Amino acid sequence: RTKRRTAPDIRAMKGGEPIVSLTAYSAVTARLVEPHADFVLVGDSLGMVEHGMASTLSVSLDMMIMHGASVVRGTKEALVIVDMPFGSYEASEEMAFESAARILGETGCGAVKLEGGVAMAPTIRHLTERGIPVCAHIGLTPQAVNILGGFRSQGHDEESRKKILSDAKAVEEAGAFAVVVEGVIEPLAVEITDALAIPTIGIGASNACDGQILVLEDMLGLTPRVPRFVKRFGEVGAAVDEAVASYAREVRSRAFPGPANVYKPRD
Ligand code: KIV
Ligand code: NA
Repeated sequence: RTKRRTAPDIRAMKGGEPIVSLTAYSAVTARLVEPHADFVLVGDSLGMVEHGMASTLSVSLDMMIMHGASVVRGTKEALVIVDMPFGSYEASEEMAFESAARILGETGCGAVKLEGGVAMAPTIRHLTERGIPVCAHIGLTPQAVNILGGFRSQGHDEESRKKILSDAKAVEEAGAFAVVVEGVIEPLAVEITDALAIPTIGIGASNACDGQILVLEDMLGLTPRVPRFVKRFGEVGAAVDEAVASYAREVRSRAFPGPANVYKPRD
């Protein structure tokens, strides 16, 4: 048994104490998150949050592996889940396995996450049957932004509600150990959570989900605009601004570096 929490550990938390999770893209933030979280997600949101891209579509497998390895090195006990980026898994089950095997092998993470329901179920089965735990992601799936017509909440009409519910059942059936349910109307998130035997991890979903996830930078107040489902639990951006402003003032006034911050010759 590894000293790290595993995908089956998260799976076993269904219906129990709520599962706490956050994103981290690097060792620094992963170290801050680990003591409080049941798992850490290296989300492909890093393309937008960390690299200033307009969507997650330009994130590469190499980027996910570099950030994933950093998060694994910054943690000791957490389960680290790494997102499979757009274009690294959809074309075939074989392609998905090759990409996921690189992610696990080159980062040391314990699971991957991919977007999609019914359409991706055979891929989820293919991976899980070959030793790769998969967390699914349904509802508002940002890699499908061009199909969904923007980042907007899902499940408002009966057809969409039925589709998302069948997506949820399909990923469970295919062997996913958990499923992220993003940006769906609250009653649908409750219905999915009741219908599944695997944990639902909500984001813009419901507090009835088996767990919650947020993008760390969003909840810390480090990103300029956040969707309404994000609660800012801190104003770290303001704290950083204050620290950087003090530094600039002290450099300009020659108050920094002071006597304690310079090396004196030995006598
Ligand atoms: O990329 C990401 O950060 C995510 C979470 C918000 C679920 O997929
Ligand atoms: Na993601």
